[in-house]
Amino acid sequence: MGRVSVNNLQEGMILEEDLVTPGGRIILSRGAVLREKYIGMFKVWGITGAYVKGEEDGDILQKNLLREESLGQSEAYVASYFPPSEGEDRRVSEVREYCTRRFAESIESGVLPPPLPHRTLPPRPPLGHFGRTFSARELGRNQVRLVSFPDIYFKIQEVINSPLSSATSIARVVSKDPSLTARLLRLVNSSFYAFPQPILSIPRAIAIVGSNELTSLALAVSTMTVFEHVSPEYVDMKSFWKHSIACGVFSRLLAYGKRVRSEERFFLAGLLHDIGRIILYSKSPAEMTYALELSLFERIPLWQAEKRVFGFDHAAVGHVLLEEWNIPEGIRRLCDYHHAPLDDRAPEEAAFVHCGDFLANGIRFGTSGTLYSSPLDPAILDYISLAPGDVESVLIQAERQLQEIMNIFLVA
Ligand SMILES: [Fe+2]
Ligand SMILES: [Fe+2]
Repeated sequence: MGRVSVNNLQEGMILEEDLVTPGGRIILSRGAVLREKYIGMFKVWGITGAYVKGEEDGDILQKNLLREESLGQSEAYVASYFPPSEGEDRRVSEVREYCTRRFAESIESGVLPPPLPHRTLPPRPPLGHFGRTFSARELGRNQVRLVSFPDIYFKIQEVINSPLSSATSIARVVSKDPSLTARLLRLVNSSFYAFPQPILSIPRAIAIVGSNELTSLALAVSTMTVFEHVSPEYVDMKSFWKHSIACGVFSRLLAYGKRVRSEERFFLAGLLHDIGRIILYSKSPAEMTYALELSLFERIPLWQAEKRVFGFDHAAVGHVLLEEWNIPEGIRRLCDYHHAPLDDRAPEEAAFVHCGDFLANGIRFGTSGTLYSSPLDPAILDYISLAPGDVESVLIQAERQLQEIMNIFLVA
């Protein structure tokens, strides 16, 4: 136990003794957990310090010094891919501050984030570079022939679209796939939903979550198996899905915050938003390497480099794939415009996926390859009704769900 002066008191510290004003009035009792709002009032009440469990000024000073150093390193790291700009929107700065604190913590625990590679020479196009002679449609279609979408999804859709569909008939189809059943049940019982009672069967899940939502989730779970065969030489699929899951979780939470109906489609759109990139990596590795090098040299987002190299980006390739797979148009359009949510043709709700992608790239939870993001337009934050001060709570809540969802989707 030690005495900690008021300037060093922090939220979460536990009082070892009653906290008393100079006039003898007890403000907080022994065992109370300090909250930011109390600490702000201490000086007003004339309190100069408190006895708290396991802390004293000397230790805190040491910790703060360490923290300052790692904060400095982390700030420089985050600014390397997410640079501050003049007159920046407060909410955008809050995202950067959150990322900075997050990396400072990991630096303190000994995990240094890998620095961004620098390129001083412009990259050369690969030999035989096909320029713009390939189309997104050709690339997507060729891939569809090679990759079939899991049958289970179409079977569920068939049952749902049938006039005789019932929760029991949907449950019968889902239950034929034990791994899908297990994952769906884990998902509906996770903190993602936070239902007060455990859901122990698929019919119950359908009754509570709804059949459309459950189809979206079944599709989400099935998606993971589609590109299992892609060689790690082209793309790290685990990191790719981590990024996609993060985008899905963020997009869903942002939509939920604005009370948008059926948020499941945002989770699914997050999972699918970059899927065209897997095809670019595996079908045109030389051109994709060139695009990556170009994005590093010019410090531009990878999708912009893709447009320069191919004449289209991964969203265009993904569009073809999702169309061929009969993914509902509402979800497809969210993916189509995830890099252009302010386009005249874009559905307004693409803003959620765009922002979800920005946050997923900001915290570096997995990656689909991009190292630089386009600046986040405040008009998008206005549309999704994200107020100053909301950013941190969304990010904290999402991170809590992320690990859980990751375990459901990526651990067999
Ligand atoms: Fe993207
Ligand atoms: Fe992305």
